[in-house]
Amino acid sequence: MKVIAFNGSARKDGNTAVLLRRVLRVLEEEGVKTELIQLAGEPIRGCNACRTCYNTKNELCIIEDDKVNEYVQKMKLADGIILGSPTYFSMMTPEMKALIDRTGYVARANNHLFKRKVGAAVVAVRRAGGIPTFDAINHFFLISQMIVPGSSYWNVGFGHKKGDVENDDEGMQTMEDLGRNMAWLIKKLNAKQKKEKA
Ligand SMILES: Cc1cc2nc3c(=O)[nH]c(=O)nc-3n(C[C@H](O)[C@H](O)[C@H](O)COP(=O)(O)O)c2cc1C
Repeated sequence: MKVIAFNGSARKDGNTAVLLRRVLRVLEEEGVKTELIQLAGEPIRGCNACRTCYNTKNELCIIEDDKVNEYVQKMKLADGIILGSPTYFSMMTPEMKALIDRTGYVARANNHLFKRKVGAAVVAVRRAGGIPTFDAINHFFLISQMIVPGSSYWNVGFGHKKGDVENDDEGMQTMEDLGRNMAWLIKKLNAKQKKEKA
């Protein structure tokens, strides 16, 4: 069982990373392997709408000068995918949007590669715009036929300067509860898949 998390912040190891690491720590405690990829400093181009992925159906995006094809395979092999983003002008970062557009299109072109994986959005925000960001990321999971667990609040943590979010007790607790619910769901799905195969 493995969960892959992406941090779409342009700032490495900031508030989004703190929130993500809290979820991942709980998953590890529950016996789920985790990996965190931070997009900061890794240029990602947006989708160029060529639709080559729909013609070739080889699980590849034609743009090869960034790591998106590697990310598609990592997401395909994982049981769960967490997408974390800070709020920029009431929305996810351009890096996270590019990741969603490119991996999402390749996945859809190849018979829904992410179908029935568990997905969770994690959002850092200073004051406002966290919920539209959370909603937009969840739209990606839902159209990808993924399964989205809840938490004790919507998965948003408040903070401005690096590390501020550690002081948002409720936000950190939300991440803790998200990790437990995600682990519970992944284990159930895993057991069911094993039973179906036997
Ligand atoms: C370009 C930019 C736009 C931002 N827009 C918003 C916003 O719309 N609402 C808000 O509350 N905070 C906004 N912020 C603040 C960040 O969401 C906040 O500092 C967040 O904790 C950063 O997360 P990070 O440390 O993971 O990068 C913005 C920050 C930047 C750099």
